[in-house]
Amino acid sequence: MAKSTTPATAVDAPPVRAEDFEVAARAILPKAIYDYFAGGAEDEAAIAGNRAAFARWRFRYRVLTGASEPDLGLELFGRRLAMPVQLAAAATQKMAHPQGELGAATAAAAAGVVYCLSTLSTTSLEDVATAQGVPWFQLYVFKDRGITTELVDRAEAAGYQAIVLTVDTPILGRRERDFRNAFGMPAGFLYENLVGPLSRTGPVDVGQSALAEYFSFQLDHALTLKDLEWLAGHTRLPVLVKGVVRPDDARRSLSAGARGVIVSNHGGRQLDYSIATLDALPAVVDEVGGELPVLLDGGVRRGTDVLKALALGARSVMIGRPYLASAVFSSSYATRSSCR
Ligand code: GLV
Repeated sequence: MAKSTTPATAVDAPPVRAEDFEVAARAILPKAIYDYFAGGAEDEAAIAGNRAAFARWRFRYRVLTGASEPDLGLELFGRRLAMPVQLAAAATQKMAHPQGELGAATAAAAAGVVYCLSTLSTTSLEDVATAQGVPWFQLYVFKDRGITTELVDRAEAAGYQAIVLTVDTPILGRRERDFRNAFGMPAGFLYENLVGPLSRTGPVDVGQSALAEYFSFQLDHALTLKDLEWLAGHTRLPVLVKGVVRPDDARRSLSAGARGVIVSNHGGRQLDYSIATLDALPAVVDEVGGELPVLLDGGVRRGTDVLKALALGARSVMIGRPYLASAVFSSSYATRSSCR
């Protein structure tokens, strides 16, 4: 989340923009949890870069077009969506709000937008499907392929409408805030799509990250196009590849069966100094935009950011931290209102 000089008391002022919720979330959440959601890899240059890219672009807009009632709707994979903004996959959402992923999915359904559930959710994918919206499932590939296959099959059976394969996480990015906080899932939370040791992170000492260990021990470090081909052949759902920043990788993904690509640097949480997603977008759109939908995430905070991404060829954007922060705010707001 963006650094802000707004005092923590902003939690008591009405939020008017996404960053206000992020200031509130910092004041409300335990530090280790806030740092996990807000932080990124190493110097967090990729986080800043995503925002800076949005700040560089200006509109050269048309006038006298007669536009009066803009229709923000779009169609994706046969579904009508209310607007080109979707809720991105983010792990462990019960750390942000007691209703966690089901609360966010219910809000997405009410707004008519996609909710993308993380593999590492604190609510099971079957429970989230009860929100009856347009759910997509984000997939991490486990070393144990049986677990991966089962997750995909469960998502298909539960009514998910797309699989989003994350490809930028061969190991977890070096998130130094998490190392300082010895971050792991707090007691009382579980990865509800998984069982046994896979459903939790172990304790670690300060200077280590339990999440980094989890990724290192459990997830496949060496995905290739063959894995994508396997997935696209295994499921009848469209597969989107998330974490693409180069046109050649977008083309290779398309050739291996991808039905969409998401230009993403994992919110600056993986390889630091990654190209800003808005800067990466035009070349990817030039290469494959005529053949499949290109989506973008990373740093989207305003309607004008959405417009910039669409103007550069994205079909839709995804947001992550802003909705997590507003969930944190709304949980504390509910508590404060009921005390009055
Ligand atoms: C999980 O996907 C994370 O980025 O923490």
